[in-house]
Amino acid sequence: MEYVNSRFGEMTGLSGEDYIGGDLFAWHPDASPPQNPEQTLAEAKETGSAQREFLLKRGDGSAFWCREMTSVIRDSDGEVTHYLSITEDITDRKQVEAQLIQTSKLATLGQMAAGMAHELNQPLYIIRMAADRCLMEMDEGTLERETEREHFEIVVEQCQRMADIIGHLRIFGRRDALEPSLMDPSACVRRAVEMVLEQYRLEDIEITAEIPEEAHVVMGHPIRLEQVLVNLLSNARNAILENAQEEADGPKGQIAVALADDKSTSQISVTVRDSGGGIPEDKLDSIFEPFFTTKEVGQGMGLGLSVSQSIVSEMAGELSASASGAGTCFTLTVLYHQQHR
Ligand SMILES: Nc1ncnc2c1ncn2[C@@H]1O[C@H](COP(=O)(O)OP(=O)(O)OP(=O)(O)O)[C@@H](O)[C@H]1O
Ligand SMILES: [Mg+2]
Repeated sequence: MEYVNSRFGEMTGLSGEDYIGGDLFAWHPDASPPQNPEQTLAEAKETGSAQREFLLKRGDGSAFWCREMTSVIRDSDGEVTHYLSITEDITDRKQVEAQLIQTSKLATLGQMAAGMAHELNQPLYIIRMAADRCLMEMDEGTLERETEREHFEIVVEQCQRMADIIGHLRIFGRRDALEPSLMDPSACVRRAVEMVLEQYRLEDIEITAEIPEEAHVVMGHPIRLEQVLVNLLSNARNAILENAQEEADGPKGQIAVALADDKSTSQISVTVRDSGGGIPEDKLDSIFEPFFTTKEVGQGMGLGLSVSQSIVSEMAGELSASASGAGTCFTLTVLYHQQHR
C-alpha cells in the first residue's frame, strides 16, 4: 500500500501509517462477510472496477458498514501498475435500509394477524375442551386418575404449541442483527411455510412443501430470508384469492414451495409456484419496483418484492419471476457459503 488519506484513518480509527508498505486490503481481515482480496483484484482487472460492501470493526470494537470500490490504473502498455480503492462509510444507508425492511415486515405481520389469531384459537379450544371434560366428570364423581392425567397432558402439550407460535412471532417481529451469519436456508423456508399453513388451509388454498431436512449453509440474515418467503407466499395467496371463482368446488388454488440444493452450481434454489392467474409479461420487471402494486389503496404498499429483492441481493443472490402454467413461479438462488463448497 502506497498511500492512504487522513479520512481513512478517521473512519477506521487506526492510523493510516500502519498500512503503508503493507498489503492492500490487509486492513480488513475481520470483515463480515469475509472478503476475498484476490477475487476483488481479479474482478477489477477483468472489468476495470470491483465493488464490495461489508461490515468492519474499528480498533475500538465498534462496527461500521463500508463500501469499497476498487479500480485499476494501467500504464501506457496496458499493464496494471496500481489499484485505487475508495472506501465509504455507508452505515447510515444500511440503517435506513434495515428500517425499511422492518417496516415492511411489520405491515406483513399486520396482514397475517387474522390467521395468527386462528392459530392461537385452536389450541385454546382444545385446552377448554379438556378442562371442561375433567370438570364435568369431577362433578359427577366419575373422574378417573388416568383420564385426569391424559387431559392434563393435552393441556401441557397445547400450551407448548401456543408458546411456540408466540415465541416464533416475537422472533419474526424482531429486528435482525446488523451482522449476517451462517444459516441453514431450509429451516428458514420451513418456518415461513409453517407460519402461514393454517391460515391458507382455512382459505381453501393448498400448500405443499418439498424441503430437505438440511441444506448447505448460506451467509445472511435468517429472519430476513424468512421474511422474503413470507412475502412470496402472501403474494401467491393474494393472487389466488383474487383469481378464484366464487362458487367453484374444491380448493381455490395451489402453492408449491421447493428447496433444492444444486451441487453442480453450488447453489441453493427456492421456488414458490402458484396457480393465481399469473402476471402479464410486460409487468414481470416492474413488480420488483418499490411501490408498484395492483392492490387497492390500503391493501398493499407495493414494497414486498422490492424489499425481498434487496434482501436477496444483500446475500449476493438473485430473485426472479417467470410465468408458470396458470400462475407465476418465483425463484430465489443463492450460492453456498464458500467454506462449504
Ligand atoms: N404471485 C403473484 N401472482 C400475481 N401477481 C403478483 C404475484 N406476486 C406479485 N404480484 C404483483 O406484483 C405486485 C407487487 O408485489 P409486492 O409484493 O411488491 O407488493 P404488494 O403485494 O402489492 O404490496 P405489499 O407486499 O407491500 O403488501 C402485486 O401488487 C401484484 O400485482
Ligand atoms: Mg406483497
